[in-house]
Amino acid sequence: MTSTNNQPAASDVSVADLTLEEKAGLTSGADFWTTKAVERLGVPSVMMTDGPHGLRKQSGGSDHLGLADSVPATCFPPAVALGSSFDPELAERVGVALGVESAVNDVAVILGPGINIKRSPLCGRNFEYFSEDPIVSGVLGAGLIRGIQSQGVGASLKHFAANNQEFDRMRASSDIDPRPLREIYLRGFERAVTEAQPWTVMCSYNRINGTYASEDRWLLTDLLRGEWGFEGLVVSDWGAVSDRVAGLPAGLDLEMPASAGRTDAQLVAAVRDGRLDEAALDLAVERVLDLLRKAQARPVAEGMDVEAHHALAREVAGRSIVLLKNDGVLPLARAARVAVIGAFAEQPRYQGAGSSLINPTRLDTALTELRALSAGEVSYAAGFTLDGSGDPAALTAEAVATAQAAEVAVVFLGLPASEESEGYDREHIDLPPAQLALLDAVLAANPATVVVLSNGGAVALPFRDRVPAIVEGWLLGQAGGGATADVLCGVVNPSAKLTETIPLRLADSPSYGSFPGEFGHVRYGEGLLVGYRGYDARGLEVAYPFGHGLSYTTFGYGAASASPTPDGDLQIELDVTNTGAVAGREIVQVYSSLAASMVQRAPRELKAFASVALEAGETRRVSLTVRRKDLAYWDLRVDRWIVEGGEYLFEVGASSRDLRASVAVTIDGDPVVRPLTMESSVTDLLADPVAGPVVRQAMTAVFGGGIGMDAAGASMMANDEAMMKMMASFPIGRLAGFPGVSVTFDDIEALIAKANQEHAAE
Ligand code: BGC
Repeated sequence: MTSTNNQPAASDVSVADLTLEEKAGLTSGADFWTTKAVERLGVPSVMMTDGPHGLRKQSGGSDHLGLADSVPATCFPPAVALGSSFDPELAERVGVALGVESAVNDVAVILGPGINIKRSPLCGRNFEYFSEDPIVSGVLGAGLIRGIQSQGVGASLKHFAANNQEFDRMRASSDIDPRPLREIYLRGFERAVTEAQPWTVMCSYNRINGTYASEDRWLLTDLLRGEWGFEGLVVSDWGAVSDRVAGLPAGLDLEMPASAGRTDAQLVAAVRDGRLDEAALDLAVERVLDLLRKAQARPVAEGMDVEAHHALAREVAGRSIVLLKNDGVLPLARAARVAVIGAFAEQPRYQGAGSSLINPTRLDTALTELRALSAGEVSYAAGFTLDGSGDPAALTAEAVATAQAAEVAVVFLGLPASEESEGYDREHIDLPPAQLALLDAVLAANPATVVVLSNGGAVALPFRDRVPAIVEGWLLGQAGGGATADVLCGVVNPSAKLTETIPLRLADSPSYGSFPGEFGHVRYGEGLLVGYRGYDARGLEVAYPFGHGLSYTTFGYGAASASPTPDGDLQIELDVTNTGAVAGREIVQVYSSLAASMVQRAPRELKAFASVALEAGETRRVSLTVRRKDLAYWDLRVDRWIVEGGEYLFEVGASSRDLRASVAVTIDGDPVVRPLTMESSVTDLLADPVAGPVVRQAMTAVFGGGIGMDAAGASMMANDEAMMKMMASFPIGRLAGFPGVSVTFDDIEALIAKANQEHAAE
């Protein structure tokens, strides 16, 4: 292989060429951001750096909390916004741009995407994550990875796994039952790994059911490589290694950052005294060499088009803004006299704090961009200050006067930057009281008031019934100001939808009461009922449901039909029509449910989605694929994915609570064959094709006549249904010998043996 980016070639070096010390050295960092070179062999050092929505390459001081400066880079909309586009192709285009910026800066791996599930609205890092739903997280994450890696730059899928809070993040154990672990917290990672094969996966800081992710053999090896076929390298989150000698054989290949040689020496000592098999180290070295080879194969970068990337950031931000409510005041009339109120219009909050903090190449403000787009007068009053300075009464008075003099007031509200950061969680979901008071004053002065929000995590919207329009701007990256102006003025028709529920109250959120845990443990007590699954299961009213988002046009949904694909998946098809007067884009969502399920399920679960652009009046046939494997639940009896047979309902809609069409499909289940034993229940035996008929007949003979019971009991038990329910979980072996039961223990044993024999022969 020839080097294409001015570095010596690592291609010819093999593990056998390296000394034990060199091998230990290669599997940990040289400093904050780079791997170690082995100069005598020409093995180069490569840089890995943040991520995820822009490049944070530090040139001076190094830290992983975004404190020291970094080179200018395009700050694209963070995942909270990008996810709301529900569009993996858009994510891929962002990924391409991230890849280009990384390549130009000679960065081999950009540390993202982060796809952890938003378990609680309080997680301080929710702005860096896509969704409370694993399919959305996995599909969008895969899109970003594909884009980044198309440029010869590696992605780092993080934080693997179950890192859903910042509180005590470096020690706390996420205690999760197998079903939610598989079905909610790992499903997105599985999707991203199998679909996009990231060069690296970053293991998280936390423990999972007591074991540090960085030492979890099941997680890093059996599951990630064995079940999912991951071919890349596992890197630790920065400082996530508690015991490298335990971590390396578990599947941790590279420790970052450097540990001043301390853990290298521990590895060497462990190999020398036989505690660590050198073969495990060799395997990790292989993977590091492989990463270096991939990095070296990157074509020479031709440079980056700062303006084009800024324009892309604006387009993506426009696709990420969610119109929560609109009584018709939006879009603004071109010549309207508009009062812009709120400091965020001039000093945007466009990203969250911590390791993802980007030094933007440019920064748009909504105020300037609105003035550029509008033909009418655009006045401005700050209303509040971000640093708390100034006289609140005077600021409010100025805002009220400005609003009064205008036709429409647009009030920019949001969370202070200090409330949303890596490293700690939020304590509540409320906007600052001073901002809410300002909004009340403006509303009293001018009822035609639009609220524009800047926040990385969901906030309570107590004013939602009183304002005619609400625009959820999330954190939109460096071009968010322009995109906000585009949406307010109707240059862009909003199309994004919520990837997380906006609750009425924090106390309604499913993890409330078991977040963030205490004394080193957080019990995921809500189990499978995370996000909308939980609000739906408990029938709770919410401010805005998962999947919700409005447009300046309207969409009609035709009847849905379903047909099997050759791969055993299901294709759902329907016509969607733009029934309004302007072009728009609809995010069509498919939810599944199985009413008569033998396992616990949420009322409905998202299984597929598509973002469809439609001209005014246009109808399109939309086709969505529901993958059979996404219908599976994790079966504790056999420790594998099982698709339960039965009649599934597929509901197609504009949100999780605005379902417009449905189609029922009977799906054959996967067989779950387990040998029968004397501990098998009556239900297990009844379900068995061999034993079932015999047991049914015996039970009817015994219980149908009420033998051995008094008259009341007999008449009650004569009701087959009640009897069956009562007996359903009875272990069959314990039935033998019951008064009035003529079937003997031996009879049952023989029946079980016969059934097991026949199944084994099948
Ligand atoms: C964060 C990672 C980040 C790394 C390097 C850690 O603290 O959790 O997301 O990539 O630092 O900055």
